[in-house]
Order: sequence, then C-alpha cells, then structure tokens
Amino acid sequence: MLTHKRRTWLALILTVTNRLRIPTPANGLRSILQRYQPPSANSPAKSTWLKDFSADILPVPCHAHNDYEHRVPLYEGLAAGCSSTEADIWRGSLPNGDAELFVGHTFKSLSHSRTLKSLYLDPLKDILTRQQGDSFAFMNASAPIGIFSMSPSTAFVLLLDFKTSGHDTWPTVLAQLEDLRSQNWLTTWTATDGLVKRQLTIVATGNALFDLVIANKTRRDIFYDAPLTNLPGDTIYNANNSYYASTSLPDAIGKIHHMRLSADQKAQITGQVERAEELGLKSRYWDTPSWPVGWRNRAWQTLIELGADVLNVDDLQAAARWDWQMCVVAGVNICNS
Ligand SMILES: *[C@@H]1O[C@H](CO)[C@@H](O)[C@H](O)[C@H]1NC(C)=O
Ligand SMILES: *[C@@H]1O[C@H](CO)[C@@H](O)[C@H](O)[C@H]1NC(C)=O
Ligand SMILES: *[C@@H]1O[C@H](CO)[C@@H](O)[C@H](O)[C@H]1NC(C)=O
Repeated sequence: MLTHKRRTWLALILTVTNRLRIPTPANGLRSILQRYQPPSANSPAKSTWLKDFSADILPVPCHAHNDYEHRVPLYEGLAAGCSSTEADIWRGSLPNGDAELFVGHTFKSLSHSRTLKSLYLDPLKDILTRQQGDSFAFMNASAPIGIFSMSPSTAFVLLLDFKTSGHDTWPTVLAQLEDLRSQNWLTTWTATDGLVKRQLTIVATGNALFDLVIANKTRRDIFYDAPLTNLPGDTIYNANNSYYASTSLPDAIGKIHHMRLSADQKAQITGQVERAEELGLKSRYWDTPSWPVGWRNRAWQTLIELGADVLNVDDLQAAARWDWQMCVVAGVNICNS
C-alpha cells in the first residue's frame, strides 16, 4: 500500500515539474486554451479536439474544484492533467419550456448558453469520439481509450454538484447522459456484471439523493459522493454505489492551529482514508488551506502522504507554481535527477 501511495506522490511531483520545464507544450489542449471562445446563444464551443490533444499530459489525481469558473471550463483542468472536474448544476427551463441544466456558482450567474451540455457533455462526447482514432493512445492500450493518450485507461471523473432539488434535477441528469451512455463510455454498475470501469465516471453530490442513486436495483451509472467522516461501522456506501468519499478538512479534523496538523489530526485522517480504501472509495478533502502557498503545499503533501486519493485544487495556475522545496522526497531531490 505504501509503495502505491509513494508512486502516486512521485508521479504527481514529476508531472508538475515536467510541465514547468516545457514552456509551450505542443498539444491540442494548449492550442484550444489559447483560441477559446465561450459558447454563445448562436454558436456552440468551437474546437473541442485538436491533433495530439493530450499528447504529453500524464494525468494526476487532482480535482478541478469550481471548474466552470476558470476562463476555459473543462479544458484548463485537462491541460493541467487533472483527472477530475466539477460542475454546479441548476435545473431550470429554456424559453420554450424545455428542462435544462445550467452551470454556475450562484443562481444569478446563470445564462442560457452555459449549460451542462454546452460546457461539459458535448465537448466530452466530441473529445472521446476523436480520441478513439488517436494513434498515440492506441499504442498504449487497446480499449477503452479515455481522454489522456499517455494513460488511456484513466477514467475521467465528472462531479455534478446538484444546486436545485435532488428530486427535480435527477431525471434531467439521467436523460442528458443518454448520449454518453449509448456509446458505452460511462462507468456502470449492473447486478449481473458488477462495476465496469469506463472512460467517464459520473459522481453526484450537493442536493443529490443517495436513495435515487440506488433506486434502480439492476443498473446505475451515476455514483454518490459518500460522507468520508460517516463511514465507520456498518455502512451502506461501497464502490457499487459511490465513488468519492469526501469531507471538508475542518469538519474531518477540527480547527488547525499554527499551520500544522497535530499527531492526533494525522491519525484521524489516516483512519478515514483507510476506511474509505477498505470500501473501495476514493478519499477527497475540500476546504484545505489555500494560503500562504508554502502552507498549502505542505498540507497537500501531508494529505497525500497520509493516503488521501485526490487533491481538491481551486487555482490551477497556482497549483502549477510548485514550491521547489517539495522536490525533495524521502531525502532525494527528484527534480534535478
Ligand atoms: C505510451 O506509448 C508511448 C509510445 O510507445 C510511450 O513512449 C509511453 O511511455 C507510453 N505511456 C505509457 C503511460 O505507457
Ligand atoms: C457489488 O455488486 C456485485 C454484483 O452485483 C455483488 O456481487 C457484490 O457483492 C456487490 N458488493 C457489495 C459490497 O455490495
Ligand atoms: C433500471 O435501468 C434499466 C436500464 O437503464 C431500465 O431499463 C429500467 O427500467 C430501470 N428500472 C427502474 C425501476 O427504473
């Protein structure tokens, strides 16, 4: 287990430092970031895939928190190599009365052109369609081919934070996933085959209801974000119905004093991540320190060392400005080796 964690950790540092070394990576994602035009009422997002799309990007277990607030939703996180992203969704109606899922942080920030479909589902569908013909991805794996050509079997996680009522929002989400579902691109659980991991894993949080996640007793392709602090003892959460197990860091361990975690707090985290692992869930802490940068990096490093599975990242640009002190792992400077 330790070696696995250490490997994750090394991979994380190595990719970030590699990314810093290459000023303008020659991949399609970077080009899209440069030319991006947001979707508007009369034109959908333009280029959604370009040659060598993710060619030099090794995915890392980071989660682009509030992703839709970035200048280029979805793509900025992908270019940073984050294998998980997040959209806050609000069920509402279009002028013609059709139900729609709008994306934004607050109700006031919503607009008709910024929908789950226009910002995430349609681009993901296009990217995955084009990736199937990508020869670089093909060299590394047969099937299924995901977003990251260097690691085609890495599933990309789309976390949907339900802002409107769980009951009202659920059927619209289920219906809108049909395009991706019909391509067999969604991680799916069925009573007969169990869990089958595919290119995209959909996770629901916020007002999403666990009862609706498990309502269908034979098949599901939306997984729950289980409460990480509520897992001890008998629990209903497991990998058949949930993907993440998450909590805010202060809720998990209480107030942090003098910018360091106490031995007791570290032990609490270790207990939580080990329990999540036993259940086959990925542990994720949000509300982790963001400032100063040295303390943020130390907190991230500690979480990874203690076994947390993903880092919740708000500011992707800042995440790439790595503290060089962190190049030293177990006494070895890996950045200059
Ligand atoms: C993917 O394939 C390329 C070309 O064969 C190779 O250089 C690279 O190391 C492979 N990546 C992985 C993660 O196996
Ligand atoms: C997960 O689902 C499979 C297939 O139905 C089943 O065999 C297995 O026992 C389930 N695991 C848990 C922990 O419920
Ligand atoms: C469960 O999902 C399957 C496949 O999508 C569907 O055919 C079936 O009607 C669903 N069952 C219920 C009770 O919703």
